[in-house]
Amino acid sequence: ITIDVIDREGSRHEVPWEQDQVLMEALRDNDLPVLASCGGSASCATCHVFLPEDVYPTLPERSEDEIELVEEAPGFRPTQSRLSCQVHYADRFDGMTVTLAPEED
Ligand code: FES
Repeated sequence: ITIDVIDREGSRHEVPWEQDQVLMEALRDNDLPVLASCGGSASCATCHVFLPEDVYPTLPERSEDEIELVEEAPGFRPTQSRLSCQVHYADRFDGMTVTLAPEED
């Protein structure tokens, strides 16, 4: 599938997302500035993204680790914030817009 990604400068990128990738990997492997310093184990929050408000409620609940981290992350938005390493591929995400969260408040 292909998603639209808005980077921290507001530029839009078309990004391919393969079935065997979590969202963080699709972003990182396509040269978006997602540090992902913990490698995807929900312990760094550098993969924080904003998802569309209509998609957010359709995702599996956040784990305790993700909740703790993401709520402390810069720019936290209760109805949009997810750690992208915890978002698994689905066909229905084709065409979705994902926005990179700020690195600092
Ligand atoms: Fe560290 Fe997602 S990569 S929390």
